[in-house]
Amino acid sequence: MILFKNVQIPQAEKWLKSDILIEHGRFEELSPNIDRSIVKKGEVVDAEGGFLLPALIDPHVHVREPGFDHKENWETCSKAALKGGFCTIFDMPNNKVPVVDSITLLEKKKIALKKSYVDFGLYIALTDENIEEIMKEEVQCEICGVKVYLAHTTGGLIVKSENALLNVFRQPKPVLIHTGGVQGLERILYFYEKASIQVPSLPILYICHVSTDEEVKLIKKYKKKFPNIFAEATPHHLFLNKSNYTHYNSVLPHLAQIEDSESLWNGIAEGVLNVIGTDHAPHTLDEKKGKNPPSGFPGLETALPLLFEACLDGRIKPTDLLHLTSITARSLFGIGEGEILKGRRADCVLLKEGNFLIGEDGYVTKCGWSPFNGRKIKYRPVMTITGGTTAYRSGKFYKRDISFLTMHSIKR
Ligand code: NCD
Ligand code: ZN
Ligand code: ZN
Ligand code: ZN
Repeated sequence: MILFKNVQIPQAEKWLKSDILIEHGRFEELSPNIDRSIVKKGEVVDAEGGFLLPALIDPHVHVREPGFDHKENWETCSKAALKGGFCTIFDMPNNKVPVVDSITLLEKKKIALKKSYVDFGLYIALTDENIEEIMKEEVQCEICGVKVYLAHTTGGLIVKSENALLNVFRQPKPVLIHTGGVQGLERILYFYEKASIQVPSLPILYICHVSTDEEVKLIKKYKKKFPNIFAEATPHHLFLNKSNYTHYNSVLPHLAQIEDSESLWNGIAEGVLNVIGTDHAPHTLDEKKGKNPPSGFPGLETALPLLFEACLDGRIKPTDLLHLTSITARSLFGIGEGEILKGRRADCVLLKEGNFLIGEDGYVTKCGWSPFNGRKIKYRPVMTITGGTTAYRSGKFYKRDISFLTMHSIKR
């Protein structure tokens, strides 16, 4: 049993002061004055007016293990997730040996089940040849989606075959696209539209890391015709732009102009961009500072403080924040709604106020750096609860049974 005294929770477009009782893994009672004496076994947490949000879900994470364990592994990545307020991560398939069949998929699942501190799901990558493999029941049962790389990035998985790009929309799982820019976006929209003539109910088309105004406009146009198109924004494309570029912070897609970032914020307000994915893509600082630096930023530990402050500053509405970081991804991937309501599974994160600097308490991600290092933040996550029990609190991690999520396995 956990009783939070004096927290603020999101309610419509406002923040509501309340106490919250968690019992049997669920939110049991939400009301202004819950008596401390009812907690016989468990603990009372005085939140001192801190904010309690649904724990976040990140549909775009590169855990790196197996193969690139020197950058990150399941333990360090899932701990970074918990520290950042995430209770669930979905892992991308661009490992050293890419995840393109049931053997590589099951090998990764085995490692993750042993080592992960958070619930997780796995993607498989589309190749020119593996659509039949992806369609197999034994693969469909294990994946939360299919990742399609249309352009170069870490891992070198690029799909060229037109048949593959058409047939991927004949399978039911969400299809996630690394477009490589507006041309790739146009290309996949062409195939999606073409598939719509033959396939009665198209799968979700999820556009990863949208970064430019041009892409926002194109997605806005197509969303009117295809409501199953969803688009992702990353914290680094929202909060950084070309002027923040230093020698080691290259990322794909590249940081764009400040006007592009503004367009992403507007896209969020207009419902064109629907999900925040951190695109947590750790590389070591030595790699980043060396010749031919790989692209990618770590992001799990910094997303929530940045977004939450944008919310308090009025850049995003509280309901939009919840949709972007939890509700929408949960509904796209079929894992329940994730709100702080009586009877719901208790996955939540407590944010406390202070004068903090990003990175002053170190990093849990194995790569140990952040492009946001040294930024001032007013709130940071201090406690993450998953399934009603404390998984992270003030620098300490607690392992519990975790769930492997596939799209039709879990309804909470
Ligand atoms: C990602 C990585 O390193 O795996 N890099 C990146 O710059 N975003 C791959 C990707 O998401 O494209
Ligand atoms: Zn099945
Ligand atoms: Zn990508
Ligand atoms: Zn990525």
